[in-house]
Amino acid sequence: MIKKCLFPAAGYGTRFLPATKATPKEMLPILTKPLIQYGVEEALDAGIHTMAIVSGRGKRAIEDHFDISYELEHQIKGGSKEPLLDEIRSLIAKCTFSYTRQIEMKGLGHAILTGETLIGDEPFAVVLADDLCHSDKGVLAQMVEVYKNYNCSVVAIEEVPLDQTDKYGVIAGKLIDGTDDIYRVSDMVEKPDPKDAPTNLAIIGRYILTPDIFDILRDTPAGKGGEIQITDALLEQAKQGRVVAFKFKGRRFDCGSIDGFVEATNWFYNTIK
Ligand code: G1P
Repeated sequence: MIKKCLFPAAGYGTRFLPATKATPKEMLPILTKPLIQYGVEEALDAGIHTMAIVSGRGKRAIEDHFDISYELEHQIKGGSKEPLLDEIRSLIAKCTFSYTRQIEMKGLGHAILTGETLIGDEPFAVVLADDLCHSDKGVLAQMVEVYKNYNCSVVAIEEVPLDQTDKYGVIAGKLIDGTDDIYRVSDMVEKPDPKDAPTNLAIIGRYILTPDIFDILRDTPAGKGGEIQITDALLEQAKQGRVVAFKFKGRRFDCGSIDGFVEATNWFYNTIK
């Protein structure tokens, strides 16, 4: 039912300079796998096979990663290292990848609107690859179930310490009767100061969006930080009762920060390896 997943991947990754000077931040690895590959695996696990990537200048490595490297294939064929390519080969076989470029960096909302040409008029998932999630059942797969029940936009949330609300979109809402993890969203604020935050329920980088979001985004003025914010566009849907927030099961690492990246590396090394 959700067939496409959008990956906004045009950002500069300035927090990881100089590593991200010539390497996309989405290609930074946790152990041996680039962040964006974890995201694509999570989408596939949710039954999504069409990957739509909003790319930008200096991001060619992403396209090359999801393609065959004939020279490499030739070099390692039949050798002990060949199985190391099994996972990525299987992803390439099962998914299609299409790309469009975001010419100007005007925020996450603008990046998502740039992806309209790849998505069209259907509900779709969004993965921000620097939020790395791990759970028995993938977070996107959990969200697709929620979407099936409520037929409206879904944001994944988790509780964060109150002094960190200024790093996230924050929601307010009421638990839906009969659930203990799904809220009908009544308000959303992008990166509020702790003193202004309506709750400590923070949006993480997983969304399912209904396609009317594109028209809303076209009319959304620049918000926090002078950027077009997806949070502001979602608030328009929320005012009509058309956004639910889902407290997903699993762990999430903020690999957009050095602390989160190191934490994820250690956790995956000790737990998954
Ligand atoms: C973006 C969104 C924010 C959300 C966050 C999740 O912020 O604007 O609402 O909480 O992703 O990672 P960014 O981290 O790109 O600054």
